[in-house]
Amino acid sequence: FKAGPLQGKRIIVTSGPTHEPIDPVRYIANRSSGAQGTALARALSALGAEIVFITGPARVAPPAGVAVVAVESAREMAAAVEAALPADAAVFAAAVADWHVTTASDRKLKKSKDGLPHLQFGENPDILRTVAQRTVERPKLVVGFAAETNDVLENATAKRVRKGCDWIVANDVSPETGIMGGAENAIVLIGEEGAENWPRMSKEAVAEQLAERIAAALTYIS
Ligand code: C5P
Repeated sequence: FKAGPLQGKRIIVTSGPTHEPIDPVRYIANRSSGAQGTALARALSALGAEIVFITGPARVAPPAGVAVVAVESAREMAAAVEAALPADAAVFAAAVADWHVTTASDRKLKKSKDGLPHLQFGENPDILRTVAQRTVERPKLVVGFAAETNDVLENATAKRVRKGCDWIVANDVSPETGIMGGAENAIVLIGEEGAENWPRMSKEAVAEQLAERIAAALTYIS
């Protein structure tokens, strides 16, 4: 039993990078640490929510006291999210790879015998878009993240409409910001009514304030 404004609410949180296999020992990944998604799951859990935490291979440990589903690839993450529905809200903080290697080998590629590898790519399922555009079992609140390096507000506003989600949490992941893989975040929260610029703060503080907003929204919606 957990008290709090999110008591009785089930929330899916995706987090971390994905690993897209090239062969049994090699993969393509990205620099996501899983810090923001993990902090968010912890903050939502602290407000009483039942969390299904679906995480790629992250650098930070998952929060205690939540159900953890560990996955590697985007396709595995998509299947885990589908299996976790229905939910009251879904927050997609994972940095999902856009592509997987369609020519992945089930044996380790060898330098001498195979020459230079020629990788071919196929598109990964867009988990956020698929869930946001569901006609049955759509969570009441669907939140996406947008990691941008330029024109953050413009790109993320367009992304919210394109994906069909309720909110986009946008941030600038240009290397000089130190945000991706770092301890702090500066977000723009974009909803139907407009955009709010939040000051730079720790990822924990961003998580706590976002969790409060999610709690307020779910109370209002249901
Ligand atoms: O299109 P883009 O990757 O920038 O969108 C980012 C948002 O979409 C994030 O919330 C991310 O978790 C989600 N996403 C997803 N599945 C993908 C790609 C992105 O859920 N294949």
